[in-house]
Amino acid sequence: MVRRKPLVVVTRKLPETVETRMRELFDVRLNEDDAPMDHAALVEAVKTADVLVPTVTDRIDSSVLSQAGENLRLIASFSNGVDHIDVASALNRGITVTNTPGVLTEDTADMTMALILSVPRRLAEGAQVMNSEKEEWPGWSPTWMLGRRIWGKRLGIIGMGRIGQAVARRAKSFGLQIHYHNRRRLPVAIEEMLDATYWESLDQMLARMDIISVNCPHTPATYHLLSARRLKLLKPHAYVVNTARGEVIDENALTRLIEAGEIAGAGLDVFEHEPAVNPKLIRLAKQGKVVLLPHLGSATLEGRVDMGEKVIVNIKTFMDGHRPPDRVLPAML
Ligand code: DGY
Repeated sequence: MVRRKPLVVVTRKLPETVETRMRELFDVRLNEDDAPMDHAALVEAVKTADVLVPTVTDRIDSSVLSQAGENLRLIASFSNGVDHIDVASALNRGITVTNTPGVLTEDTADMTMALILSVPRRLAEGAQVMNSEKEEWPGWSPTWMLGRRIWGKRLGIIGMGRIGQAVARRAKSFGLQIHYHNRRRLPVAIEEMLDATYWESLDQMLARMDIISVNCPHTPATYHLLSARRLKLLKPHAYVVNTARGEVIDENALTRLIEAGEIAGAGLDVFEHEPAVNPKLIRLAKQGKVVLLPHLGSATLEGRVDMGEKVIVNIKTFMDGHRPPDRVLPAML
């Protein structure tokens, strides 16, 4: 008996090499023009696919999953985060879910570091002056465009998983003092290597930091973890950087506090209602108080190819009857 190749439906355009390999291995339905799929298209996809390959822009909620056909056995997400998928509902239906951890750690940590540097040192504002046709650079001056020093400041990392630790490694070599809050304390050997101080109380850590970096996943437990109450604990000269998920911060409260001068500024790569960006944040960006990036954390060609490779390995292993390496388990949520 000839086993048919699995029908794999991919929701967005992937790097060329990844799509070529998928064509060789699977009966694949690709999204050549990269238009995000709406609810109806996602329902159509889950009705027919053996494997769905969604990504962070697809909402695979219970209303989509309830219409899944019998063949759908695997959702192999092209993403590290899985908050766009109702994982509990998928698992209840016997659908395995996988993600792509590990391969975007270094790129995301680089981008976090870029934001940690950009906001206090006013990189975006400086670049704007040099790119402006209206405004001419008046030349060096002892008092012009002064930012704040990074070296010696206290960095509080929320979420000390792979990405948080990669940020800590970089930040340490920039002379930042590393502090962190995490569900579980790290082994002493890792704390010593990173010179990292653990704070069991997030509130206490927030009140003492100069820069906060959000590196935890978005789960029901971390939704608005940085609530208005917690943001108010920050010192007025503190900066907030987020390369994880917008939903972890109460964005309206953050915006209000920056406007009021109660927080110095923010560097954001992710937004609460992506791709919509709060107009007040855009206004603050024009004033140089925030730096906004369009979810670029993992956006390197190498990173995206590695993510695609992980998706392929997860699908292949699953189809060969083994446990795929990157299964999302209920304990991770
Ligand atoms: C992910 O994979 O979760 C990232 O946010 C994409 O950059």
